Order: sequence, then C-alpha cells, then structure tokens
Amino acid sequence: MSVGAIWATARGGVMGRDGTMPWHVPEDLRHFAEVTAGQAVVMGRRTWDALPERFRPLADRRNLVQTRDPAWSAAGATSFTEIADGLRLAEGMDIWVIGGRQIFDAWAGLIDLAEVTAIDLDVDGDTHAPHLATPPWRVVARDPATGWHTSVRGLRYRFDTLRRNGES
Ligand SMILES: NC(=O)c1ccc[n+]([C@@H]2O[C@H](COP(=O)([O-])OP(=O)(O)OC[C@H]3O[C@@H](n4cnc5c(N)ncnc54)[C@H](OP(=O)(O)O)[C@@H]3O)[C@@H](O)[C@H]2O)c1
Repeated sequence: MSVGAIWATARGGVMGRDGTMPWHVPEDLRHFAEVTAGQAVVMGRRTWDALPERFRPLADRRNLVQTRDPAWSAAGATSFTEIADGLRLAEGMDIWVIGGRQIFDAWAGLIDLAEVTAIDLDVDGDTHAPHLATPPWRVVARDPATGWHTSVRGLRYRFDTLRRNGES
C-alpha cells in the first residue's frame, strides 16, 4: 500500500477559499479522477462538505472521511478519527490523501508521493497547500516537460509529480 497526496494550487500556494477552489479547470478534475480511480481517497470532513452533492461520494473510489466527531456519517462515506483506522479501512488499496490542508498536515509523515497541479493564476485564498521543500522532495516528472497546458477555460496549468527523497 502506498500513500500519496494530490492537490491543485494557484500561484503563492492558494488551494482554497470559502470552502471551495477558486478556479475551474476541467482537465485537472479529469486528471484527479484518473489518478485516484479504483483506490482509497482520504479527505477531511470539510473537504467532503465542499464536494458538490452530485459528486459525493467520489465514484469508483473508497471515500474515507476523517473527523473528530465519532457520530458523523454520510451516505457513501466511511468515517474515521485516527490515522491507524484510516489505514485499516483502505484494506490494502493504495491511498490518495486529497485534502484539505488539515488532513495533508495530519498525514504528512506517511506521504512520499505528491501529484501537484500548478494553476497559473493569482488569486486570494484562505487555505494554502503544504510547502514541499527540496530536499527531501524532488520533482520527478512534469507534464508538459516545459511550459504549460492551456485549459478550455483559458487558464494555464501543469502537472508535477514529486517524490520524497527523490526516489523515481
Ligand atoms: N486545491 C485542492 O486541491 C484542494 C483539495 C482539497 C481541499 N481543498 C480546499 O481546502 C479547504 C478545506 O481544507 P481545510 O484544511 O479547511 O479542511 P479539511 O482538512 O478538509 O477538513 C478539516 C476537518 O478534518 C477533521 N480533522 C482534521 N484534522 C484531524 C485529525 N488530526 N484527526 C481527526 N480529524 C481531523 C476535522 O473534522 P471535524 O470538524 O468534523 O472534526 C476538521 O474540521 C476547502 O477550501 C477546499 O475546497 C482544496
């Protein structure tokens, strides 16, 4: 079982504002679905709340929601409080930690792979992505290798794969 993290960030590290993501890049949502398909996704209760109802639970993935409230429940989600329980509930599937910031921080010690979408956008926000310092983190793949993709919505974006300790 591996534990990776996946997020999208604007310039300056902004990843959320008012409980949502302040941009719309459909190609990134497709990339997110492809990377996490068939595996377990771990998210904070606030990120679950932020998902549009029609996308909850995220299809074709085991939805594990971390909360301190043992009474919390939602159709299609399995809740847990301790990381050890999250690991057990994944039942051997690879885990993608999908946010938000509190959950990235809680799981930081277990994450050695990060799929980061860079959005070429200046925007204000109230939630910022973790900073992956080099070393120990290193970019091992970049799509496109140089430059940017351009979304149908006009924004430029790029997919970076980072590994801790630079393992490829
Ligand atoms: N750009 C991206 O890729 C991306 C990805 C995901 C989310 N986001 C954005 O990020 C924002 C939400 O992030 P956030 O950091 O505010 O919230 P979050 O991490 O999604 O959820 C926080 C909640 O998780 C639970 N929690 C946190 N630490 C815990 C621990 N150690 N043990 C047990 N439960 C714990 C608590 O739930 P209870 O209060 O129920 O106890 C807490 O309120 C939104 O704006 C969202 O749109 C962006």
